[in-house]
Amino acid sequence: MTTTATAPAPNPALVSDEARIDFWARQAGRLDWSTPWHTTHRWQPPTAVGTEPDGTVRWSVPEIGWFEGGTLNVAYNCVDRHVEAGRGDHVALYVEGEPGDRRTYTYAELQREVARAANALLSLGVEAGDRVVIYLPVIPETVIATLACARIGAVHSLVFGGFSAEALRFRVEDTGAKVLVTTDGQFRRGAAVPVKAAADEAVSGDNAIEHVLVVRRTGETDIPWTPGRDLWWHDVLAGQSDVHVPQPFDAEAPLFIIYTSGTTGRPKGLVHTMGGYLVQAAYTHALLFDLLPETTGDDGVARPDELAAVNDPVKVDRTVHWCTADLAWVTAHTYEIYGPLANGVSEVLYEGTPTTPHPGRHFEIIERYGVTTYYTAPTLVRSLMAAFFDGVPATYDLSSVRLLGSVGEAINPEAWRWLRAQVGAGTAPVVDTWWQSETGATILSPRPGDAQFDDGAAPKPGCATRPVPGVSVRVVDEHGAAVAPGEHGLAVVDKIGPSMARTVWGDPQRYLDSYWRAFAAQGWFLAGDGAKVDADGDIWILGRVDDVINVSGHRLSTIEIESALVAHPWVVEAGVAPTADARTGHAITAFVVLHDGVPLTDVAPALRAHVSREIGPIAKPAHVVIVPDLPKTRSGKIMRRLLTQLFEGTELGDTTSLQNAPAIPAIAAAVTSWKDNS
Ligand code: PRX
Repeated sequence: MTTTATAPAPNPALVSDEARIDFWARQAGRLDWSTPWHTTHRWQPPTAVGTEPDGTVRWSVPEIGWFEGGTLNVAYNCVDRHVEAGRGDHVALYVEGEPGDRRTYTYAELQREVARAANALLSLGVEAGDRVVIYLPVIPETVIATLACARIGAVHSLVFGGFSAEALRFRVEDTGAKVLVTTDGQFRRGAAVPVKAAADEAVSGDNAIEHVLVVRRTGETDIPWTPGRDLWWHDVLAGQSDVHVPQPFDAEAPLFIIYTSGTTGRPKGLVHTMGGYLVQAAYTHALLFDLLPETTGDDGVARPDELAAVNDPVKVDRTVHWCTADLAWVTAHTYEIYGPLANGVSEVLYEGTPTTPHPGRHFEIIERYGVTTYYTAPTLVRSLMAAFFDGVPATYDLSSVRLLGSVGEAINPEAWRWLRAQVGAGTAPVVDTWWQSETGATILSPRPGDAQFDDGAAPKPGCATRPVPGVSVRVVDEHGAAVAPGEHGLAVVDKIGPSMARTVWGDPQRYLDSYWRAFAAQGWFLAGDGAKVDADGDIWILGRVDDVINVSGHRLSTIEIESALVAHPWVVEAGVAPTADARTGHAITAFVVLHDGVPLTDVAPALRAHVSREIGPIAKPAHVVIVPDLPKTRSGKIMRRLLTQLFEGTELGDTTSLQNAPAIPAIAAAVTSWKDNS
């Protein structure tokens, strides 16, 4: 049966549980398995197991399994099988360093490098199940080290280079990693910045690290070195064979741990597994970045066949994909490392900042490599827009771009229109992909073949539209009832796909409490985002409803930043709230109550530097407002929503739970005087 353009294939998740599970079983056929699975899906929802001391129901932690009994090797699926299929000469990576150095890796070269790195890790005693923390910039060694871990069954955890030594230390200790892979330094905004000293600081405490592997990137001399523990990456790889026979691992074996900010000061290590994650990463990459074969409907219009379990080889061959995210974020795990490589496309890896040495660097790269699919974040689009307000100069040839993608936060209509008009020649579809570290792969997104992208059709800029096949989403009130069209509700995933995180590393109770407790009776996953459904049934994401701030698409916990601020000797109390910002979407604004006698000059730079040291530069408050008090509920919880409203000068919402209402005018006055002086 062919799918018609006028009647698209129904989402199997909306047909029946059986159809959904069969659909994912078919998609798993995209991969090469060493042993077939015996159980496609196992789902043990939270179950009432008693009563908590406070009288509420005690729930069991849910259990999720996909493709149980099956075994596979993830790195083999991303690299070797393409070589075996005769595509060894096809380019896997076009690498461009910030200083302008370039290198190309074919799939055959990538296979040899990954094999050498796998042998190197084995020679250091790394075994299946051991953890390896990777603290590297966007360089080929990051992809190679990641795939080498996957190849030998070691669990990788990538840490963003912009995180501080403290943040790295937490991840090294929480994972119990045996090896840390890092660099001498990294290039950032045209300068070589040292990294190794921060890595040393992170591993200076009590931990399980046996070796620190150091990639030479900037050629720093005089870097700190601990003989025996520290080894140069190139030295360790030099003696290794470039052949390694991959072993199969259980589909449910952990592939990686990715940390994300939650509603407490302690980041959560989400655990993703080998089989289910790779299936959904590969399928959604093919679906959203237009690798699926076409089918022609009765009206003669060709549209991609959404449910196809194989790719169109011509589309695969001509794709040059570029996901601009840092490799340490989940975005790049799924749509720069695993999804595109599982599908055998070519892709660009660019080390540096988009504006170095000039604001047109991304356009230059698109032109140089003939990028066809450009997947980026709204904040980056806004900064390009600011630099090229009058349009991208005609000196850049962007005609290779066929498809655009956005992720990390809701994209504002102006940025969406600018991106489509300037980078996508006014015709490229824009896939606005909504998902999370927790879901592992996209949940909601328009499709490249959607009618909204047709000539003359009414587009929906900023709308994440509808679930990808095989998952389903509801927008509900706090009791789980569907909200009426246009009303605000909570986004829940009521039918999950195989790439859902299985647990929080070392803390299953937190997995239950954070994601499943709110709708335990229904067995729904609470995403933490507000949403609404429009009259066409399309879903719009409205942003976080919890204590998480989304800055430039990066998730940060208000409580984590507050904890850092109150650790400073000047600060008595701190409240951190998101405030609107034209470039970053939200800015971190800190409201601090200071000890008596603190000199009021230079407070902001000192506290910003302090947060930068404690967490990392991305967590630095944009604004620091000194206030006499913070709005609090009767139970002493800071009402951050009121801080945002006071700062933005909007009407204060519900204040009935305020414990210290009389303090509000004084806080408002402090905000006004801060604005007057800045
Ligand atoms: O608030 C949503 C926002 O980013 C959060 C997930 O952040 P993280 O786990 O770091 O993963 C980011 C990349 C997948 C979500 O809860 N978010 C992500 N994509 C979108 C979005 N908000 C609106 N529209 C999107 N397309």
